[in-house]
Amino acid sequence: MEVEQTLILVKPDGVQRGLIGEIISRYERKGLKLIGLKLLQFPLTKAEELYVVHKGQPFYHRLIEFMTSKPIVAIAIEGPNAIKLARLINGATDPLESAPGSIRGDYSTDITRNLVHASDCLENAKRELAILFSPEELC
Ligand code: CMP
Repeated sequence: MEVEQTLILVKPDGVQRGLIGEIISRYERKGLKLIGLKLLQFPLTKAEELYVVHKGQPFYHRLIEFMTSKPIVAIAIEGPNAIKLARLINGATDPLESAPGSIRGDYSTDITRNLVHASDCLENAKRELAILFSPEELC
């Protein structure tokens, strides 16, 4: 069992809909530990850096515009297999495939306004955490 750290974002729709507490509680109830937490307006350059792998995709500009439109919540979590567990808790990106019981499965019908982001692998988790948190901001 690998203890990992990963980045979660509550997207603007999650903040606007008042779902921050509900979303955070799902990782906490699973037993994952919060080691960083902040509410912020996502700077354009940082949003572009986070989503650089999607540059050129037809949804890229819509995604960047959405993510920088209103405040987001950045959450760093830690725990055994945290990267995969966080993605299971979030549910599939496609709303037709996100299972009931997952955050997206319970609360979202839209592939862009899908409430949460979570890093997809160890390399990206390290890269993405460094975009949102300085080392001294992590407990
Ligand atoms: P996220 O987990 O933040 O990673 C990339 C984001 O792109 C994804 O969630 C969606 O919000 C957004 N997106 C929009 N359209 C698509 C699509 N067709 N395929 C994948 N991601 C998409």
